[in-house]
Amino acid sequence: MIALEPGPPYAELRPEDVRELMDRQTAVLELIARAAPLAEVLTGILTSLEDLMPGARCSVLLLDHEHGTLHHGAAPSLPPAYVAAIDGIAIGEGAGSCGTAAALNAPVVATDVLTDVRWVRYRDIAVAAGLRSCWSTPIDGGDGRPVGTFAVYHSRPHGPSSREQLLVDRFTHLASIAIGHAHLLEDGRARLEAETARRTAEELSHAKSELLAAVGHEARTPIQAIVGFAELLGTMDLDEARRREALAHIGAAAGHVMDLLSDVLDMSRLEANALPLGREPVLVRDVVVEVLGLLSTKAAQRRVTLEHHLGDEVVLADRRRLRQVVLNLVANAIRHGHTGGRVEVRVGPSDADAVVVLVDDDGPGIPSDLLGWIFTPFARGAAPRCTPTAAADEGAQEESIGLGLGLAHGLARAMGGDLDVARSGPSGTSMRLLLPRADAVGA
Ligand SMILES: Nc1ncnc2c1ncn2[C@@H]1O[C@H](COP(=O)(O)OP(=O)(O)OP(=O)(O)O)[C@@H](O)[C@H]1O
Ligand SMILES: [Mg+2]
Repeated sequence: MIALEPGPPYAELRPEDVRELMDRQTAVLELIARAAPLAEVLTGILTSLEDLMPGARCSVLLLDHEHGTLHHGAAPSLPPAYVAAIDGIAIGEGAGSCGTAAALNAPVVATDVLTDVRWVRYRDIAVAAGLRSCWSTPIDGGDGRPVGTFAVYHSRPHGPSSREQLLVDRFTHLASIAIGHAHLLEDGRARLEAETARRTAEELSHAKSELLAAVGHEARTPIQAIVGFAELLGTMDLDEARRREALAHIGAAAGHVMDLLSDVLDMSRLEANALPLGREPVLVRDVVVEVLGLLSTKAAQRRVTLEHHLGDEVVLADRRRLRQVVLNLVANAIRHGHTGGRVEVRVGPSDADAVVVLVDDDGPGIPSDLLGWIFTPFARGAAPRCTPTAAADEGAQEESIGLGLGLAHGLARAMGGDLDVARSGPSGTSMRLLLPRADAVGA
């Protein structure tokens, strides 16, 4: 904190100056304390000084140590053309008052720029801007090196009085505090950003390892089955019926690995925003009818009744991907609902811009511990799952991967829609898919 007592050396100041100085200083320190941007704090400092020194126009230039150049931090009353001409000036003796003050780390007073040798190169722009005198003081960076310069211009030849010197000293010191504080904040922010980036990278790497482990685990069982049945096929005394059976098991297990891999690939492309998606008007009814046809055998195997109430809504979507989403929802309802249950698909308007597809079942509901992360890859219930060998049997429940809803959710969103659980409990589940209506988007 800056001690500011009305005794010496402030004896040079009028009592009203001291009061004014205290008030202005407090206002600036409040700006610094609430981490206002540096340009705003510097502008506050400069306008305060200009109010206390009528006729003076002030600026702060910040020193870029790496390039040895000065750049405007604030110059509220200087003509923009002059500010632009001076910005980026290289420091050195003969570089006006500020360039010289920064190079020598000492105050430089040019009482008249027309006669001052350090102003030869900048004389014309200064005079064009109505500036005749310039007094520049280095701003101390706390380590003995300047962090910038504090300039006071007048429109007439002018040398500083001792009152002005005291005022400029105080405000230069305030500027030094403001710049130091801004650097500290910047360092803190940079450290925080680096720390956040490090943590995010760690979390991503952890998530990637988990995903790889899950994929590896998923793939191992069917691949072991393929290897086992392939060995069996190598046995010479295998009869024709057993040979066919082994081939069927191999086919089913290989199909499962293929599904797993294509789902994982789609998932990673979706996450990278790199899944190519078409956008065409699609009559939702057609897609639902196709899906119900594809799943009719599975439904029959589980004695599930399929019902539908379909309007003639047209959506903007990628037809193949829309089928994939609806297929997953209806397959889930059949697979995770009750044997002998009922599944119903309804299509209708949601609002002026969207169409809703509801897939309802009367099954046991999504396990409550899964509800919160149902769209996370590899989330799945603990319901008994079948081995790939059993999956090859007609009528057996097929292997569950736990990627379907994650993919469906990602696809729905990528197509400009959404997917959520409208309701799930002991009396059944209702999944709600929203899609952009084609006429609403001008298709
Ligand atoms: N209609 C439903 N009723 C009850 N539980 C459901 C329903 N739909 C999904 N679930 C639960 O959510 C889990 C995740 O579903 P998801 O579709 O992502 O994977 P999955 O069906 O297990 O495997 P797949 O990757 O083959 O789709 C399921 O394992 C199941 O426990
Ligand atoms: Mg599924």
